[in-house]
Amino acid sequence: MSTLKDSLAPLALKGRILSFDRDPGRSEDNSYTYFESGVVLIEGGYISAVGENIRIPEEAQITDYGDYLICPGFIDAHVHYPQINIIASYGEQLLEWLKKYTFPEESRFSDKKFATSVSSFFLDELVKNGVTTASVFCTSHPNSVDAFFEESSKRDLRMIAGKVLMDRNAPEGVCDTAQAGYNHSKELIEKWHQIGRNLYAITPRFAPTSSPEQLEMAGQLYSEVDNVYVQSHVSENVAEIEWVKKLFPEAKTYLEVYQNFNLLGPRSLYGHGIYFSDEDIELVSSTGTGIVHCPTSNLFMGSGLFELKKMYDAKVSIALGSDIAGGTSLSPFSVMKGAYEIAQLKGFSLSPLQAFYMATLGSSKTLHLDDKIGKLVPGYEADLVVIDLESTPIIKNRLQGAQNLEDLLFAQIILADERSIAATYCNGNMLYQRNL
Ligand code: GUN
Ligand code: ZN
Repeated sequence: MSTLKDSLAPLALKGRILSFDRDPGRSEDNSYTYFESGVVLIEGGYISAVGENIRIPEEAQITDYGDYLICPGFIDAHVHYPQINIIASYGEQLLEWLKKYTFPEESRFSDKKFATSVSSFFLDELVKNGVTTASVFCTSHPNSVDAFFEESSKRDLRMIAGKVLMDRNAPEGVCDTAQAGYNHSKELIEKWHQIGRNLYAITPRFAPTSSPEQLEMAGQLYSEVDNVYVQSHVSENVAEIEWVKKLFPEAKTYLEVYQNFNLLGPRSLYGHGIYFSDEDIELVSSTGTGIVHCPTSNLFMGSGLFELKKMYDAKVSIALGSDIAGGTSLSPFSVMKGAYEIAQLKGFSLSPLQAFYMATLGSSKTLHLDDKIGKLVPGYEADLVVIDLESTPIIKNRLQGAQNLEDLLFAQIILADERSIAATYCNGNMLYQRNL
């Protein structure tokens, strides 16, 4: 079938180019490909060539970004779109914050029109921040998922999302039942999973708001559907952990609750994991469970300090997430900065290369999408971001004089924000361009 894109001219984007080939922390060899003055060629939504001396077809439309940096689009592996308008809610830790701010806001998403307008705003903001893939919590209302996937399909984004499952310990307006939650998830999977670029995540909110029956059904669905994801929260906050102990006394740890319901494994993504025991770390590592580090959320909510080095040494599959609205910014620079700061507090200096790797290829590996996104190589989906490396006077001054790649990246991590995103391309289409 021919699509509009097939008939469009190839795009040739010129600039500095950076793409990771492997994890810089685990490799003696060079972990990335960098061209000081290169070209990314895009045809039919895919990258068709990358390099310094590639042949640009005559009919190609050329955009020269000069010394801007072209990277794979960033990945946000844990974010709640319905919470975008309660960002910066004051003064509470997790359980009170959920009661006071989050559940009332999420109850509004029974209204499809409202869900559509928030989805549209959220996705525009995400793309403006250079994020091209995210793993997204909707609300318990099936409408909220339809609204989200309709808007992501319009933009041709590769998105993972799912209906929140929660059948207890929360107000009626945000709860489902075990059976309705299962049925609706199944219907939404049939409607959206692997349709276009959309992928579905079975989404039990967290153990305290799901009955054992609901978790059982979620585990069953996870085993039934090809390539489906699971996303949830684990071990984020001390009071939360105490509550889980009371609700599930038979489990040795919070993580074990999910293990008992067959909810760990490849394509399962758990936000936080701050208070893991050594056994928990071994369990996530051996099951291939993904852990999403959400540093700005952990700081804002006063949740605790993630053990990045320890998890990394145990070969846990790690991704990065903004966790809006626990987190404070959609910008991957803010998330990487938070990861750097928390690592510093734990006596470990996260390298800028490692941080950029985690926000691109590292997260795509954790999402099991590293055969499609996260790299700039031929055959990959053309999701990429163009970064102005001197977007503010302070960054410009900081980068005067000798510059190596690490310096350039570190200045972005600590100092850049959405002003540095010059353009974002999704599946070969320019979805965002900064005003000049
Ligand atoms: N745990 C359960 N629900 C949530 C949520 O919405 N945000 C965060 N940060 N943690 C949670
Ligand atoms: Zn979250």
